[in-house]
This record gives sequence, C-alpha cells and structure tokens, in this order.
Amino acid sequence: MTTAQLLTGHVLTFTDDPFVVPWAEAVRIEQNGAVLVQDGRIVATGADAMAKGAHATRHDHPGHLICPGFVDAHAHYPQTAIIASWGKRLIDWLNTYTFPEEMRFGDPAYAEATADTYLDLLLDHGTTSVASFCTIHPTSVDALFTAAATRNMAVVAGKTCMDRNAPDGLRDTAQSAYDDSKALLERWHGTGRARYAITPRFSPTSTEDQLAALGALWAEHPDALMQTHLSEQVDEIAWVRDLYPRARDYLDTYEAHGLLGARGLYGHAIHLAPREVDRLREVGAGLVHCPTSNTFIGSGLFDLMGLTSQGLRAGLATDTGGGSSFSMLRSMAAAYEIAQLRGVAVHASQLLWLATAGSARVLHMDTEIGQIAPGLAADLCVLDLASTPAIAQRHARANDIWDAVFPTIMMGDDRAIADVWVAGARR
Ligand code: GUN
Ligand code: ZN
Repeated sequence: MTTAQLLTGHVLTFTDDPFVVPWAEAVRIEQNGAVLVQDGRIVATGADAMAKGAHATRHDHPGHLICPGFVDAHAHYPQTAIIASWGKRLIDWLNTYTFPEEMRFGDPAYAEATADTYLDLLLDHGTTSVASFCTIHPTSVDALFTAAATRNMAVVAGKTCMDRNAPDGLRDTAQSAYDDSKALLERWHGTGRARYAITPRFSPTSTEDQLAALGALWAEHPDALMQTHLSEQVDEIAWVRDLYPRARDYLDTYEAHGLLGARGLYGHAIHLAPREVDRLREVGAGLVHCPTSNTFIGSGLFDLMGLTSQGLRAGLATDTGGGSSFSMLRSMAAAYEIAQLRGVAVHASQLLWLATAGSARVLHMDTEIGQIAPGLAADLCVLDLASTPAIAQRHARANDIWDAVFPTIMMGDDRAIADVWVAGARR
C-alpha cells in the first residue's frame, strides 16, 4: 500500500448525464470538499475522505476546482508539429500539411520523440487520457503506447489505415492493414491501461476491401474500439458519394462493412442525414465533437444540443492538429461558442461533463476514468480559477460557484492547470 493522499478544494462530481437530466441535478461542485487517493485509485470523497484521510499526506487547493483529468476523445498525435498551419480546408490541408508530416513517422525515433512531446503537452493542459490516431506505420502505435505506459496514462490508439488517395509511402493494403492492426491490437489492447482502436482514417482513403477487412477484425475483437471520421466537410461528403455510388449515405460506407457499432467513435459528424442520426442513435455509437477543428478548418457547426436531446452520445476533443489547441479548456470554450451560433447556451457543468465523463463514456472507459468517485482511477486535474490577471479580475466578480468557473472555461489555458495526477501519482 502506498501512502494515502488527501486533496482538498472544490470538487466536481457527477450523478447523471447533464444533457439528459437538468444539469443542476446531474452535476455538483462540493465547495471545500476532498478527494482521498490510494494505490492509484480514488477511495473516498467529501466528509468520508476527510474522516478516512486524517493521516494522509495533504494537498490543499483552496479556491481551486478539482476535476477528473480531461479526456480528449479524438486527436492525431502525429500532427503535433503541424498544429496551426495556415490557409487550407480539409482535403488540401491533409495533402499540404498532414500527409508530408505523417510520412516522417516511418522513422521510429521521430515517432518516439513526438509521442513524448505530445503526451507531456497533454499533461501540461490537464488532459490525462486521449484517443489518438497514429500513422500507417505500426511503430508509430508502439511509440505512443510506450510513451503512455511510461507516464501510466490510459490511452486509446490505433494504426491509421489508408490504401488509396494517399501519397506513396503512406499507403498500406487491405491485407497489411488487417494483419498489422490485428498484431497491434493483440499486443496492446488491455495491456496495462492501453486500449486499441481499429482505425480506418476515413472512407475516402480506404477501399471497400480495406473497410471490409477492418470490419472483420472488429467482429473478431468486439471489445476493441473503432475510430474514424464522419461527415466533416461538405466537399468530403460529395467525394464519398462519388467513391461509394452504392452507399445510401456516408455512414453507410462504414455500416455496410461492419464498422458501425456502440464502440465506434465517429469524429466530427457535422452534416448528418436523418437516417444517419437514427442509426447512430440505435446502435449507441459515440459522436466526437471537435469544435476548434471545425472552426479552424471551416467545417461547420456541430449540433450538440439537437443530437444529444435526441439521445445520441457525444464526447469532446481537440482533433489536434486540425484543431488549433491542445487544450480541452479551449475546446470547451469553442463548443460553447458554436452552440451560441446555433442559438443555445451550454452550461459550464455540461461543458465540463463533455470533457471528462462524456468523453470517457464514448470511449467505454467510464468505469475507469472521467469521474471523481470511489473505485475510479485517480486521474485528476486541479484548476486554478484565477490563473491570469484577466481571469482573476472577472473571477473576483463571480456571483456563485458556476460563475466562478465559467471564466476559466472561456479564457483559461495551460496556466490554469495547477496540478495533474495520473493513476494516483502527482506529476
Ligand atoms: N479526415 C481525415 N483525416 C483527417 C485528419 O487528419 N484530420 C481531420 N480533421 N479530418 C480528417
Ligand atoms: Zn481527426
């Protein structure tokens, strides 16, 4: 047994989904609360933590908000070095910036160095878990999972599969995508905190044979996740229509090949037809909202409130490096702004839920991460609610605890991250 650690401060807890029940019933901030951590897990909260933690090592964070570590449900770690590249929309952006950079990951040393840089940046921003695409190179997957294991982080990742419409040197085949993904899945899925996601990049860069091969692999390993992109830009959807003339819609290109399921993660999902919405809901699939990417690459306005009110499940993500920030605070702010453009105000509690428990749920890791509750991993992020002069002067005017938190969501960055804990270890 390791020494118990007692964190005190305001504590964010969830009892339900604030997109389904009124947020005030689903989300609580216990002011001057406590979290007791031992052997990598949360063992108690509130008065129970204070009582049981009388002899624990104390970490007092007066006025700070203790949150679950942020969970970024969709990112591309190989795009770390090309984040914020100017002037292109999706397909041009992929060809101009992304594919040349991803080519470099054929060098394992480059992949390892980028994985280390990326995960350290995530922790600096309070993100303790991510679902990341890798490149077509199997060693890019080993690099990320190895870097995650070194930091004891619960990470989802997969080899990105592409066998057409990508440059020489960045294509696999249906067979090699199946074989390499299978070997990586068997090596990493459930090894320590790692989880594998079968990863066809998106329908335009896979042949039907490749999608079918990956669908077969998923059927053989139904407990693995599957991550891809869906209906991000209008031009992309038109391209999918040309490439798959028999498909009813974009989602059908996945569905027809065994790539639609509850453990599927569909990034963006902005321009959906009614049939697609119905099928995604029926199977309980995970939609991943990537707001800074959707504005940066000019993709469109995800219908967060409309889709969640129809019973669809959503998580939140940076989509690094199509997204313009590594920060889940910045992603929450962008999600708020996009919803405002659609005429609705998302509450701070709902934004925080999306960035933690909501993302954990779409990753099917919600019994392990995303909440501050006894039994879950002690992956925590402590937010300074007055981290800059600009935020501090606004925070001084706060009327209540939610009004004290919201300026940090809208204006905060890595300076707001006062402390990060991963599996019970303080960073
Ligand atoms: N669609 C296919 N690949 C990508 C990618 O790398 N980033 C984004 N934003 N969309 C994609
Ligand atoms: Zn993406």
